[in-house]
Amino acid sequence: MAHHVMNPFHIPQSRRALLRSLLLTTGGIITGDLYAEALTLTPRATEGPYYPDHLPLDQDNDLTQILGGKAPAGGVVTEFGGRLLNADGKPLSGHIVELWQADVNGCYIHSNGTQRGKERDPNFQGFGKIETNAKGEYRFRTIKPGLYTGRTIHWHIAVKKGDQRFLTTQLFIAGVPQNDRDGILRGMGSEQQRLSVIREFKPMSKDSQELVGTWDIVLGMTPEEPEQRRSPGGRPPRRRAAGQDIKDLLFGPPPF
Ligand SMILES: [Fe+2]
Repeated sequence: MAHHVMNPFHIPQSRRALLRSLLLTTGGIITGDLYAEALTLTPRATEGPYYPDHLPLDQDNDLTQILGGKAPAGGVVTEFGGRLLNADGKPLSGHIVELWQADVNGCYIHSNGTQRGKERDPNFQGFGKIETNAKGEYRFRTIKPGLYTGRTIHWHIAVKKGDQRFLTTQLFIAGVPQNDRDGILRGMGSEQQRLSVIREFKPMSKDSQELVGTWDIVLGMTPEEPEQRRSPGGRPPRRRAAGQDIKDLLFGPPPF
């Protein structure tokens, strides 16, 4: 004779939903271990105006050396790498991680990317990419980005698979004084999410000037909409309202 005994450990769906909304409204105070495994999603950031408008011939993950180049790039050699994960901590292989950044003079390889009064370093690759391996790992050898007006030091990162882009974000170095005043960084997600993109970089060895850091990237499930690349902190995209002058759209808020 089959008795229908309710499993005391089973939480009905409605109760889960209630718990979930309680977690959200209490800011996670009663978390317990219900969501302990969920990782902090890497926050989105604006793509900025300097995603390359022409890609270099050499697009590998070592930006310090251009294929056939005469000399290594100027600046402090800096390596970083880590794993690409989903929110449950599962490694994501076969994704492309792209990096673009300012050279030692603060200039990008973009055709408008040369800062006033500066020259572009011809030995710096400016853009590179790598496919995550079976363990979800990626790695770059590059330089510490140069500083340019209005921003703190930052790397630009995009994650793609096929023709879908899943994330556009930026990576920062802990302890850089300009971090505290950087409008883009301050607009990136929650406090916990911001902390996840400000990483500690240390000398590679006692006698080395070269820096090294680690950074795991945590992806949400949904691919990015093109407008999200221009909306730090998930602000709604700018829409063309009736009567709005085209100039406001073209020359609105300063781009970064
Ligand atoms: Fe930038």
